[in-house]
Amino acid sequence: VVIVSNRGPLSFRLDANGDLVATRGAGGLVSGIAPLVVDTDTLWIAAAMTDGDRVAARRGRQEARGFNVRTLDLDPDEYRMAYDVVCNSTLWFLHHHLFDLSRRPRFDRPWREAWRAYRSVNLAFAEAVASEAPSGAVVLVQDYHLLLVGAVLAARRPDLRVVHFSHTPFAAPDLFRVLPDDVATVLLEGMAAHVACGFHAERWARNYVDTSEQLLGVVPRTFVSPLAPDPEALAREASSAAVEAAVAELEAEVGERALLVRVDRIELSKNLLRGFLAFEDLLEHHPEWQGRVVFHALVYPSRGALPEYLAYRSEVETVVARINGRWGGDGWTPVVLDQSDDYPRSLAALRRADVLLVNPIRDGLNLVAKEGPLVNEVDGVLCLSPEAGAWEELGTAALRVDPFDVPGTADVLHEALTMAPAARRARAIDLRAHAGARTPRHWLADQIAVAG
Ligand code: G6P
Repeated sequence: VVIVSNRGPLSFRLDANGDLVATRGAGGLVSGIAPLVVDTDTLWIAAAMTDGDRVAARRGRQEARGFNVRTLDLDPDEYRMAYDVVCNSTLWFLHHHLFDLSRRPRFDRPWREAWRAYRSVNLAFAEAVASEAPSGAVVLVQDYHLLLVGAVLAARRPDLRVVHFSHTPFAAPDLFRVLPDDVATVLLEGMAAHVACGFHAERWARNYVDTSEQLLGVVPRTFVSPLAPDPEALAREASSAAVEAAVAELEAEVGERALLVRVDRIELSKNLLRGFLAFEDLLEHHPEWQGRVVFHALVYPSRGALPEYLAYRSEVETVVARINGRWGGDGWTPVVLDQSDDYPRSLAALRRADVLLVNPIRDGLNLVAKEGPLVNEVDGVLCLSPEAGAWEELGTAALRVDPFDVPGTADVLHEALTMAPAARRARAIDLRAHAGARTPRHWLADQIAVAG
């Protein structure tokens, strides 16, 4: 098996002595797939994203922290255009329905340049796979960054069995039409060139099939295979010394108060702003919570090269500062905004959360919604948006939050915070059963089965 994704499991930097130091890559894709691959000889091919990654790429295959990684040193300008403009500003916005259509997208000449870059990055990935993959290998290509790899390999290496998997939602057909016709055609043909295309949820697979049928006249082969955390690896990590220390620190900080938690990238689709506004609405309309609940938001910056993300981050900081200024005092900080991307601290918060808020506008799966219940030890209630792919598995055991309804979300938070212990316990048991029903092995087995 060869795994191919834009972001790899490791991010490299150079220390003062010029040695490479590897840290773990960001986001759901990496944390979901990494446990499958660690300590095996599976090759993972990924783009060099940092200067350290480029040094690693020039030194050849890297073996570190149990991974066998080949990073590709792509032309930095070309890579930036492909990643920032086509992947993150266009395809991510498209599939998450984030466009403000009266202004964006704009398919101007610089965009066309970026589109050429996207095609050339995909070609470079395909070439790397073609030269590295053993004969007859199953190649698992991940996400919207790499939609054209399968088509090149079909011609160059017909012995390979290439499967594509999207960790994002898929746009509704009417929205997909926003793309220029030629671009839409190339992308859909690229996807259709795989043995099959997989998604975390039925909804996204259906959107893809409908889009392909309407725009291309092709009914592609799909499968649905939600990813899940590895319960054993997660339990091990959640009981590490670093997490125990973080739990003690958190407990000292929170004291007798109730603990509301979220863990996310600072990402437009995650709906942080309405989450904080809902918390403020809770403090205002259920005043008994003033001074009695703390909202720990473990959110870390992402895609800082995009103006939309920078603006969103500063809006988040402004709203939180305003809420804390208006409501806080007497040793109580209502919202703790922790942007440190500290994994042990995140696990500690998930362990101790009375309520976990996962309220995305639209989300391929949302692994945190599964990790939370698996490590939580206080029968925490999950407040989950039905727009997360994980809703298909967890919806019956979670409380439903409409991501767009601010007072509605506040009412659900109130319901979660006041739920009777027996009801919390029953839901927690149910949540754990659903969240732990599958492991990453099931996901891998599904890909290999479709690959035939
Ligand atoms: C999501 C995507 C991944 C991506 C991750 C982090 O999980 O599905 O493909 O790697 O976000 O985003 P980034 O742009 O930082 O890699």
